[in-house]
Amino acid sequence: MSNKRFYIETYGCQMNFADSEIVNSILMKEGMEPVHSAEEADVIFVNTCSIRENAETKVWNRLKEFRSLKKDKGDLTVGVLGCMAERIRDQIIDQEQLVDIVVGPDAYRDIPNLLAEVDDGRKAVNVLLSLEETYADISPVRTSDNGVSAFVSIMRGCDNMCAFCVVPFTRGRERSRPLKSILNEIKQLSEQGYKEVTLLGQNVNSYKYEDIDFTRLMDEASKVDPEIRFRFSSPHPKDFPEPLLHLIAERPNLCNYIHIPAQSGSSTTLERMRRPYTREQYLDLVERMREIIPDVSLSTDIIAGFCDETDEEHKDTVSLMKIVEYDLAYMFAYSERERTLAHRKYEDNVPEEVKKRRLSEIIQQQMNIQQKNNKLEIGKRHLVLAEGESKRSSEQLSGRTDTNKMVVFDRRDFQKGDYVEVEITDCTSATLMATPIRKTSIREFYAEPALA
Ligand code: 5AD
Ligand code: SF4
Repeated sequence: MSNKRFYIETYGCQMNFADSEIVNSILMKEGMEPVHSAEEADVIFVNTCSIRENAETKVWNRLKEFRSLKKDKGDLTVGVLGCMAERIRDQIIDQEQLVDIVVGPDAYRDIPNLLAEVDDGRKAVNVLLSLEETYADISPVRTSDNGVSAFVSIMRGCDNMCAFCVVPFTRGRERSRPLKSILNEIKQLSEQGYKEVTLLGQNVNSYKYEDIDFTRLMDEASKVDPEIRFRFSSPHPKDFPEPLLHLIAERPNLCNYIHIPAQSGSSTTLERMRRPYTREQYLDLVERMREIIPDVSLSTDIIAGFCDETDEEHKDTVSLMKIVEYDLAYMFAYSERERTLAHRKYEDNVPEEVKKRRLSEIIQQQMNIQQKNNKLEIGKRHLVLAEGESKRSSEQLSGRTDTNKMVVFDRRDFQKGDYVEVEITDCTSATLMATPIRKTSIREFYAEPALA
């Protein structure tokens, strides 16, 4: 196995990127060498996503490109990891030599054995899901992040069974990673100079390890290093713990930013989606969040055109988004997935052009809201963690505020990884422009609150 060069290409959510770092670690322990392009590799892995049809289409196209590479190169192994593995293993293996190896999200420890099988001339598959696997003892090898912000996985799988969602089928049952191993990973990140950690799970507020719940986990995590800022993704509105809101309000290194997926603003649609809350309950939760954390920034996920969605129901979503005024929203057209409840029970009956029209209506409104909200930031001061050069110019750095807004400012003597106090001078709907004031720290900045 050793000396082989491998390349991992990752699609989908942050959890998938975190998983690729685990696979990195497993392969490097085998003596394999990571490379930065498919062309240089002896083994290519594609870590895949099944959440919407277009995510899968992208992967299929990429696999076809790798097939031509394989024809040119002769000796090349191609593997599929992650969420597509279980669903389409038979297809993948049968399809004209497209893939040699298929590994589901709970079977990454088996990759070295599977590679050996391929070397013996067989196709290799392990898509078993597990009730226990959390990869707790494997330290991810972080080859792809910016050295400043890291993702730490705290749980795997999902038991929610939202009617539209394939994740419970691709990633299996919910299980939480032991507290100690999470805290150890954060300690290591702190020693390596990381300044931001996002705790990841498909449903973080149902984290439960022994008697430790998610609020207690955030409490313990944030005490590991007061100069690391913490975020988390994603919680579920159905059982969001109020004590966590108080903790976020009190603790300077817990970011005032919550991603709280609504999916729809219509109670009847939510019921069909099997989301166990109403529009009113969701709005009450938002109100509590804003009462307890006055400057909290909120983002959301919205699906347009779910089965049987009427114009009225769609208008409820538009109006909910207008009431909440999210700072950021991820908006999608509904895409039917096999095996889900919606696939079994409902018809995907909103015509494509209606889905598109509804989607563009909510996107348009959201852009206007963001533009308006960002304008209100002009003149305010923020604590920005510099994450690296801005995309446009090496003379500028970019980073995010505590509230997760992207900010661009002149580099001067500031470095990646610095906490910089800035004053916002201009904006678009997606980015704030700012003048840097001074290098500072979380403790210093919040002890002497900004002028604005
Ligand atoms: N179609 C469209 N969007 C979906 N999501 C999940 N499943 C689907 C689907 N079948 C969205 C949800 C979820 C986000 C990660 O992806 O909004 O919160
Ligand atoms: Fe895609 Fe969901 Fe799997 Fe993440 S968990 S890779 S979003 S299907």
